[in-house]
Amino acid sequence: MTRTVYLNGDYLPEAEAKVSIFDRGFLMADGVYEVTSVLDGKLIDFGGHCVRLARSLSELEMQNPHSDEEWLAIHRELVAANGIGDGMVYLQVTRGNPGDRDFAYPSDDVTPTVVLFTQSKPGLADNPAAKIGFKVISIPDIRWGRRDIKTVQLLYPSMGKMAAKKAGVDDSWFVEDGLVTEGTSNNAYIVKGNKIITRQLSSDILHGITRAAVLRFAVEAQMEVEERAFSITEAQAADEAFITSASAFVMPVVEIDGAAIGTGKPGHVVARLREIYLDEMRKAAV
Ligand code: PDD
Repeated sequence: MTRTVYLNGDYLPEAEAKVSIFDRGFLMADGVYEVTSVLDGKLIDFGGHCVRLARSLSELEMQNPHSDEEWLAIHRELVAANGIGDGMVYLQVTRGNPGDRDFAYPSDDVTPTVVLFTQSKPGLADNPAAKIGFKVISIPDIRWGRRDIKTVQLLYPSMGKMAAKKAGVDDSWFVEDGLVTEGTSNNAYIVKGNKIITRQLSSDILHGITRAAVLRFAVEAQMEVEERAFSITEAQAADEAFITSASAFVMPVVEIDGAAIGTGKPGHVVARLREIYLDEMRKAAV
């Protein structure tokens, strides 16, 4: 089935949506993105994604081409046009097409390129992996120093995903100076007793929208939250471990570099957090 996608104001069949070879997203990875999940036809934590999009654009001195209301209308139109029950909406804004290649940013009269498309994932919230848990390996974090900006330069995360595949596991966790930063496309956590430990916010990691919500719900559920970095050795000795992202929600991690975490099965703290997160976010979905 051909999708309807959005390109610069038009809703088009996917094969008709074309972008210039001079687009700076293509030549320079000069663009930012967001991924918002959809459950029962509604957008999860849409407000959070709008706030982060605005920040990413502003950090790169790009104008936000739309108001939050306009972004919402485009998202809803695409969800409806493609009959998405469960899935994702991918949004990308690049600095546009200046008509040639140049390292310097073009002047402000170059309009940004705006692309959105949907991905249908029936049963997204019932992913069987949540009952089994992910296995991860650790690899060095050699990404750039502004990981807080959600840019489309995802080559190293792709390499990390391939390293995981080759090792027969689900994902990689990045390690810098002996401490875990985050997963290839998710934030990383460990649980010790009633305490949830996850790296503090800085330019070392992406400020996950799911992370913010999960930490809020954890505190409301009387769990303790400690925002600090941890090592792979500490993670291997934890009771439970997990990751969060807009598409995986809260996903248990049961093995790190071949060592089983806790019982080697998804633990009850992670299961509870996943349940609370999904319940609360479904209620607040737009
Ligand atoms: N990835 N860290 C990184 C490096 C990420 O790419 C992501 C999201 C996250 C989690 O952020 P959030 O909770 O806002 O989704 C953390 C998205 C899902 C992706 O690239 O598909």
